[in-house]
Amino acid sequence: MAIRLHDVTKSFPGNDSAGAVAVVDHVDLDAPDGRIVALFGPNGCGKTTILNIIAQIEPPDTGSVSVIGPDSRRLKVGYAFQNFRDTLLPWESAFDNVSFGLRAQGMTHESARQRVAAFLDQHGLDIPRKNYPYQLSIGQQQTVALTRTLVQNPSNVLLDEAFSALDHKARFRMQDLVVSLIRASGSTMIVVSHDVDECLLLSQEFILLSKRPARIIKRFPVPFEYPRKHELLASTEFAALRREVVAEFVKEVGA
Ligand SMILES: Nc1ncnc2c1ncn2[C@@H]1O[C@H](COP(=O)(O)OP(=O)(O)O)[C@@H](O)[C@H]1O
Ligand SMILES: [Mg+2]
Repeated sequence: MAIRLHDVTKSFPGNDSAGAVAVVDHVDLDAPDGRIVALFGPNGCGKTTILNIIAQIEPPDTGSVSVIGPDSRRLKVGYAFQNFRDTLLPWESAFDNVSFGLRAQGMTHESARQRVAAFLDQHGLDIPRKNYPYQLSIGQQQTVALTRTLVQNPSNVLLDEAFSALDHKARFRMQDLVVSLIRASGSTMIVVSHDVDECLLLSQEFILLSKRPARIIKRFPVPFEYPRKHELLASTEFAALRREVVAEFVKEVGA
């Protein structure tokens, strides 16, 4: 379903007498149904706050947020949180952590178990199913959290640095899986990352944000056809777009 932010601003109370800290500055965003949009910006600029506003975890101070679309699908927001470790239930196995989201929506334990087992098998996701979160590597923990989001087949997906703990190979595999699932289901996805390559490889539109408070500096269409192979990263077209984006970024934050 389409995600629209219109003229959204947000500030948080400051820690001292300095007053409020502006975090989001008049942001307009339009992600039509089925589109993948990337938000890229410096650390602490307000990216996670924008996702929290879209997910309705935080209300905007001003402006409006809407998630609307063809009525054929029920709105279901899948949010892969940046602090994924805090979202894992320590007393549940890796497998049960994946199935937790389905159970929380009312699916029986057995149906959720079958759905998760089929999903893991179908996509060759090799997680130690019986281990508890403390027995998993941080990359495995992130895979569990991300898989929990994907298995619910959300209509809208928000990814916040969702591949940050994965090694090179695991990252490519998960990126491929996410894009193929999202493209197959027609979901709308917002990808937040401070990794330029990740944003360009995944998205159809790359939005460059300023330092805090986050304001949109520039939007870049990303014209490459899906499915995208990772060899795209080595192509001259990709390098040219990357150069353009990085040049704008450096203008904002300094070299
Ligand atoms: N709930 C909150 N209360 C107070 N300040 C917050 C809160 N959430 C985020 N901030 C502040 O807002 C700014 C932007 O944070 P965040 O959106 O997490 O940035 P990013 O994801 O781009 O790194 C930071 O200065 C952070 O300290
Ligand atoms: Mg963040």
